[in-house]
Amino acid sequence: MATPSSFWTQANALLRKNLTFQKRNKKTNIRLILFPFILCVFLFLLQRLIDNQFDKPQFKCGCVCTNDTTSCNDSEKVCGVEYSDQIQVLACAIPSPPEWPPLLQLRAGKAWYPPVYTMLFTADNHSFGQIVSDNMFPSALTMDYSDIMASLASNLLGSEAKPASNNFLEPAFTSDLPIYYVQSKCPQDDLIFPPVYSTGETDAQQYMEKFPFTIAGFHVDKEFRCADGINLWRNSSSEINNELYEGHERNYPERVNTIFSAFDFLNSNGNEFNVTVWYKSTYKDVTNFGPTALLRIPRSVNLISNAYLQYLRGPGTKMLFEFVKEMPKSETPFRIEIASLLGGLFFTWVVLQLFPVVLTSLVYEKQQKLRIMMKMHGLGDGPYWMITYGYFLALSVIYMLCFVTFGSVLGLKFFTLNDYSIQFVFYFIYINLQISLAFLLASFFSSVKTATVTAYIGVFGTGLLSGFLFQFFIQDSSFPRGWIIFMELYPGFALYRGLYEFAQSATSGSNVGTDGMRWHDLNDNGNGMKEVLIIMFAEWIIVLFVAYYIDQVFLPGSGKSPLFFLKGFQKKPLSLCKTLSIQRQGSKVLVQMEKPDVFQEREKVEQLLLEPAIDHAIVCDNLKKIYPGRDGNPAKFAVRELSLAVPRGECFGMLGPNGAGKTSFISMMIGLTKPTSGAAYVQGLDIKTHMGGIYTSMGVCPQHDLLWESLTGREHLLFYGRLKNLKGPVLTQAVEESLKSLNLFHGGVADKQAGKYSGGMKRRLSVAISLIGDPRVVYMDEPGTGLDPATRKCLWNVIRLAKQDRAIILTTHSMEEAEALCDRLGIFVNGSLQCIGNPKELKARYGGIYVFTMTTSSDHEKDVENIVQQLTPNANKIYHLSGTQKFELPKEDVKIASVFRAVEVAKRNFTVFAWGLADTTLEDVFIKVAREGHAFDTLS
Ligand SMILES: *[C@@H]1O[C@H](CO)[C@@H](O)[C@H](O)[C@H]1NC(C)=O
Ligand SMILES: *[C@@H]1O[C@H](CO)[C@@H](O)[C@H](O)[C@H]1NC(C)=O
Ligand SMILES: *[C@@H]1O[C@H](CO)[C@@H](O)[C@H](O)[C@H]1NC(C)=O
Repeated sequence: MATPSSFWTQANALLRKNLTFQKRNKKTNIRLILFPFILCVFLFLLQRLIDNQFDKPQFKCGCVCTNDTTSCNDSEKVCGVEYSDQIQVLACAIPSPPEWPPLLQLRAGKAWYPPVYTMLFTADNHSFGQIVSDNMFPSALTMDYSDIMASLASNLLGSEAKPASNNFLEPAFTSDLPIYYVQSKCPQDDLIFPPVYSTGETDAQQYMEKFPFTIAGFHVDKEFRCADGINLWRNSSSEINNELYEGHERNYPERVNTIFSAFDFLNSNGNEFNVTVWYKSTYKDVTNFGPTALLRIPRSVNLISNAYLQYLRGPGTKMLFEFVKEMPKSETPFRIEIASLLGGLFFTWVVLQLFPVVLTSLVYEKQQKLRIMMKMHGLGDGPYWMITYGYFLALSVIYMLCFVTFGSVLGLKFFTLNDYSIQFVFYFIYINLQISLAFLLASFFSSVKTATVTAYIGVFGTGLLSGFLFQFFIQDSSFPRGWIIFMELYPGFALYRGLYEFAQSATSGSNVGTDGMRWHDLNDNGNGMKEVLIIMFAEWIIVLFVAYYIDQVFLPGSGKSPLFFLKGFQKKPLSLCKTLSIQRQGSKVLVQMEKPDVFQEREKVEQLLLEPAIDHAIVCDNLKKIYPGRDGNPAKFAVRELSLAVPRGECFGMLGPNGAGKTSFISMMIGLTKPTSGAAYVQGLDIKTHMGGIYTSMGVCPQHDLLWESLTGREHLLFYGRLKNLKGPVLTQAVEESLKSLNLFHGGVADKQAGKYSGGMKRRLSVAISLIGDPRVVYMDEPGTGLDPATRKCLWNVIRLAKQDRAIILTTHSMEEAEALCDRLGIFVNGSLQCIGNPKELKARYGGIYVFTMTTSSDHEKDVENIVQQLTPNANKIYHLSGTQKFELPKEDVKIASVFRAVEVAKRNFTVFAWGLADTTLEDVFIKVAREGHAFDTLS
């Protein structure tokens, strides 16, 4: 017997098969590689388009022509912050940023004059709070044109203009809105002219000054208006809170809040300054970048500090806050990283796209029962997992490498800015998780179509959900972090989060002109990459383990219990002998009713089992299979107490009507289902515990051909040959011989894909597969079905040759086939053997009659009866119609010669139109046995 193939031989066989398979699936491969390529090219083109758009003047640092025309050449142009608007200024190079007076953020009150801006305060010590607050508002406007910044600083300036995200340009000075100087009481004589309003509020008085000066290189000609500032005491900070809350314009749209600030002096006194500042950041909204109003908070802090200083040191003390100024910056042209903006969504799809590919491939092998077919021909779980997993991993790695390479070559910042090692680790962990997940989910699908549709819906839905829902959770800083991590347990979201972080890093890197994500960035608080990596890694390990576990437990033929990994801890079962003897007692009752031949077989099996080593190839002892009753139907006995021994060199044929239990029996023997009770030994190995060992020396030709549509006949045989440890020239020769003997060699049949084979060709290939590699035990489920007579003859020859040194169990519906191939036959009815023996014995036992037919004119019917009576008195007329009569003659009573003689005599006496004598066929036996079996069954 050939040695079973090693782990590496099996791995090699499977790998080669997979590579061939992949080579055949050109379309899938091309589509797979093209998708990221097309996507990258699309993003690249979109990027170009957007860059082009941003190349327009409105997005570039503002310039004007010195000669007062709209078009001029570069030498006549001056550019810079002064000539730019809010948007353009972002693009300018600003080596020395302008200095702007710090302003208070004011909110427009009702349009009366002078406008009133309110400040609320509270303190532990009321009088202290009052004194300090009274220091806050200056009583007069002080303007000194010689030092404009200092004089502006000693006033309390504020603006209602919406603040910008930076201080390169102060909108208060560039917009049309007035600047307010807040005073404790605006002087009456500041009236310059009564304003005219569309609402007709002519009685309102407007206080304003208008003075031109130059600030930060800008020539400012602003209106300065006086505003009354009042400070109001509140008993507690919660009171202030309530008032701010109720005054919020959303609560009282008509009562717009003019409170610009509030202070709580807490426990402050002459020695200690401890203060809480309320500020308003109403302008914080999505369209602005960041918490813009914060730019105007420093003035409030300065205001209160200055007031405290005056309390301590007297009214002459001043702590001037002259200007705010941004850091200098280089030119930063406008750029939107489209790959980073859309990357999260698009790239999620790109990476997820692999999932359906892996899943479908796994489900295909499951749906076509190819996995079990490979297993039955000796492919161990170890090599299967290693190669299949490694194979998909390699495929995914190549795919991801292509993807990252395309992106990098096209210069998408998403790829080029982030550290490649982080990208590699991230993608690597994710694709591993994805493959494990496919393995796990493959156990739950049985049809490729369902799996494909579900997987693609999953891919699409995950992408959309991530892009349009999950992303908002990530961006919302108030959303609990724990929930985000919880959502990231879903691998699709984890993937999205990782890609999102890459995109964020690439965007900020490209805006600021620095690198994207680096390893040390993982420790940043807002960076979710670390958690994602940890989650995905942990899930990978867990999912892989669970997938392997489910595969081991639920895959037919694995022979493992759900607690297989606890095997070492379980109690040993009762000793084998005891269990056997108990069963024996039970079975004796039944034995009485059994046919002698079946009983004899049972005795033989019992004898065999007592021997120390079982030398028969196949021994079944009391094998039983019961399918539990469902939906109110009674339990179905598929196989009842079957005992059978098949020695080497025998071909045992199983006959029986449909549903008799033949296929259930074979399924048990090849490990697809487990026997309900009883035992069976193949080559001395128990089918319940050592199926793995049995598979290395077993061949199966299943009833339905289990073939890969895209592999050729030769490739099938090469694969299974390698699994059976054939190598090199031996393998080639075995394959050639096998192809030739089964008529698959000529006309290029061997190199045609199995999907294009006719039914007969598939059948022959299946038989060839079951015989390759010299298996000791072969099961053939209706091998000759659907073959033309010539091919069938050739198939029979092959089987006849093959059975010489192995045991074959064969089921068939063709009596001719059974007679031609089988050394012994068993007829199966309702799950139990009705008879067993070689074809001749059976015919003798169950036939035992000749059928004698004679046709004469109806006048001579009586004469014919007389002749038959003379031959034997035990004859039995079974058919009679207008001169044609049929009789059954017991074989022991008549000799063929005497029948001939009697016919000769008859022919002389009257006209015999036709006559015939037929021996019983196997078919007669079959029908008889089947009928008896059914009768017995209905009786019992
Ligand atoms: C409250 O503040 C006033 C003014 O500074 C001070 O004179 C007085 O002693 C303070 N009262 C207490 C209880 O500290
Ligand atoms: C604040 O406290 C004072 C004295 O305790 C009290 O007279 C006044 O009504 C309080 N003000 C408010 C608004 O509760
Ligand atoms: C400032 O005030 C808060 C609230 O009253 C208090 O908890 C804190 O100890 C104070 N800090 C100092 C330095 O006094």
